[in-house]
Amino acid sequence: MVGLADLNGDEITELLDRAVEFRRLADERALPSPLAGATVGNLFFENSTRTRNSFRLAAKRLGAETVEFTEVGSSVAKGETVADTVRTIEALGVDLMVIRHGSPGVPHRLREFVTSGLLNAGDGTHEHPTQALIDLLSLRDAFSQEGTGESLAGKTVTVVGDILHSRVARSNIHGLRALGARVLVCGPSTLLPRQLPGAEFFTDLDAALAQSDAVNLLRVQFERQRGAFFPSPAEYYRLFGMTQTRLTRSGRDPWVLAPGPINRGIELSSEVADGPRSLILKQVANGVFIRMACLATLMEARR
Ligand code: CP
Repeated sequence: MVGLADLNGDEITELLDRAVEFRRLADERALPSPLAGATVGNLFFENSTRTRNSFRLAAKRLGAETVEFTEVGSSVAKGETVADTVRTIEALGVDLMVIRHGSPGVPHRLREFVTSGLLNAGDGTHEHPTQALIDLLSLRDAFSQEGTGESLAGKTVTVVGDILHSRVARSNIHGLRALGARVLVCGPSTLLPRQLPGAEFFTDLDAALAQSDAVNLLRVQFERQRGAFFPSPAEYYRLFGMTQTRLTRSGRDPWVLAPGPINRGIELSSEVADGPRSLILKQVANGVFIRMACLATLMEARR
């Protein structure tokens, strides 16, 4: 799977249901080994804490061996290209490859010559499909827990922040729309793209919050920004930072997601990050089961 945009609502729901089943089996200490005998290559050309570790745990807990590649410390420093690095890892004998790269479209390009199964772990500003699946599952869990049913149909989710540079935003919007949710995007006008099919645009966070059942707070991606998109982090926090006061004022008590990593005091306050409506660590925990579902499904498709 190189993009969530390739999947329709039924296919997304199947992956979420499969993740839930793996979670149940893990709780019962009865996980099967659908990846026994397989080798998964984890290729991270960009930094990661959550995605890399959860893919590795998911693969190992389902019986696979893993090959771990991070650009730091690799032969990329000696001039090896991405394509040659990938061919080299594939020649070690991997069945599935997980790849993160800072340039949009790298997984799609690799599909032209890689024979192992490919999973996109984030390509530049383009897509982060497994993160979107995690966010969808975490929302389903939360709505189910509060008794409004696990369906996302008819729910309103606001994606807040640096939409322009966010691969999470693009995958989230597709996934949420495919499951019937209404999607608002909110941020400084300089960080909103001109067009984003399926999303409604807001620059007033309080107006968006007044309609929201959940908010997904994106990290300000300083490393991808070429130029000053807002006057200062303090100004960003004043206008777009999620605080308890702002949540309470909305009268909605929305669930709070953040794909992470989070910047406390820029995207949100510690009170919100660690508060009762925060799903942040539940998202991390769900990451292992979503990645199990993706790895097992891809492996089955190849056998
Ligand atoms: N959400 C996410 O992709 O986090 P990492 O960069 O830590 O993997």
